[in-house]
Amino acid sequence: MDPLDLPADIPLIDLYKRQGNVVKAAELAGKVSAAMDPPSNKTEDEISQGSSPAMAEAVFKNIQVLKGVSSDQLIPAMRFIAASLGVECNYCHVQDHFDKDDKKPKQVARDMMRMMFAIDKESFAGNREVTCYSCHRGSPKPEAVPMVDSEVEAKPRAAAGSGSEKLPVDMPTADQLIDNYIRALGGAVAIEKVASREEQGTTTLGGQAIRTEVFDQGPDKQAVIRHLPSGDSITVFNGHEGWASMPGRPVRDMHGSELDAAQIDADLHFPLHIKQAFPELRVEYPEEIGDREAYVMSCKKVGQPPVKLYFDKQSGLLERIVQFAESPLGLIPTQIDYDDYRIVDGVETPFRWTIARPGESSMIQLEQIRQNVPIDDAKFRRPTSSAAVAKPLGP
Ligand code: HEC
Ligand code: HEC
Repeated sequence: MDPLDLPADIPLIDLYKRQGNVVKAAELAGKVSAAMDPPSNKTEDEISQGSSPAMAEAVFKNIQVLKGVSSDQLIPAMRFIAASLGVECNYCHVQDHFDKDDKKPKQVARDMMRMMFAIDKESFAGNREVTCYSCHRGSPKPEAVPMVDSEVEAKPRAAAGSGSEKLPVDMPTADQLIDNYIRALGGAVAIEKVASREEQGTTTLGGQAIRTEVFDQGPDKQAVIRHLPSGDSITVFNGHEGWASMPGRPVRDMHGSELDAAQIDADLHFPLHIKQAFPELRVEYPEEIGDREAYVMSCKKVGQPPVKLYFDKQSGLLERIVQFAESPLGLIPTQIDYDDYRIVDGVETPFRWTIARPGESSMIQLEQIRQNVPIDDAKFRRPTSSAAVAKPLGP
């Protein structure tokens, strides 16, 4: 899936970097994240039991509408807003003072949140049907007037894969797509032989190249280490829990859909486990990726947003995954494109991932993959104090 998914805060660095504020970027992102994880007096025991995070209003200074939302859900909500309106954080926020209400759009945004909750409550039986994006569509000023026909043509058509359209005949079934995929990769036997994997490459993010290492230990442990100038950023899933650490900051635990995604990423034999992982598989209308056609399969677990898998019509290989993360205001999509497939120990393996979310994207190019090598278990161990976070894990 997304073995190199970034800790939630790194995109912020990117955001400010694009505004030309390189030095401030890291600093500011650090502050936001530090606010998300205030120093706590939690004992190791409480931490290892994954105690639930504090409410937003207890952690942030000036929360009036998003009360009762868990504090680690505030930034996802903010990212949803920014993506829906097609703006950056500073459209509403004074730099370095996220709690201040000096900017008009921030005040309007509060009224808008109340309006959105009221619409959904009163007109949609409390289901989140209308979101900021329903009206805003990537612009701070929603269109109120229908377009004339020639303009409509110029706009991309509404997604063909909405499900209501009739599927073409002769479509493969979900089982066939999975079987083709496994065969295209090199077969179940070859996939099963991979017991561990070590990958080295470069992440390109906001014009910066970051040395990146990934360690996978079967069946389901994964550590991703990014060597940032300020120290290592480390994301780990140890088979049960997941966390992310950045230099000089407390460890941030993964929850909910982030944890689900990490679990799938860490599964070395994921192609063989698709049917187990998702009780509900549905083939949707085919879509184009660039100039190639792809079959689309929607995978669902009860009570969770779907995961979409795109298989190349010709090769049968996985070309794209789209996952949706919950936020208090709406779903945030993450799209990962797989590319540059090469055969490693008899298995087709993508050497390039392009990870895109609204307003940000990063690319990972692998240079080397070694499999079935011993991997030190310390790589998957939780750092015991925040001091340990500043240093790379392991000996
Ligand atoms: C369209 C306006 C808008 C945009 C864009 C926006 N925010 Fe916010 N932000 C708000 C509003 C409104 C609140 C207060 C929410 C409340 O009162 O419940 C808030 C609150 C916050 C807070 C809490 C501050 C405190 O201490 O009270 C942080 C941190 C924050 N936003 C970060 C961000 C980041 C980071 C981004 C960019 C990814 C962003 N915001 C984009 C409107 C916005
Ligand atoms: C039912 C439709 C609708 C929904 C839902 C909606 N908005 Fe709006 N929003 C509008 C309209 C209409 C305007 C007025 C635009 C204008 O003044 O031209 C507006 C204006 C705004 C503005 C002021 C923009 C500016 O620069 O003047 C902000 C900020 C904003 N909305 C944020 C949000 C946020 C955040 C959400 C989700 C919590 C949201 N809106 C949901 C319709 C909507």
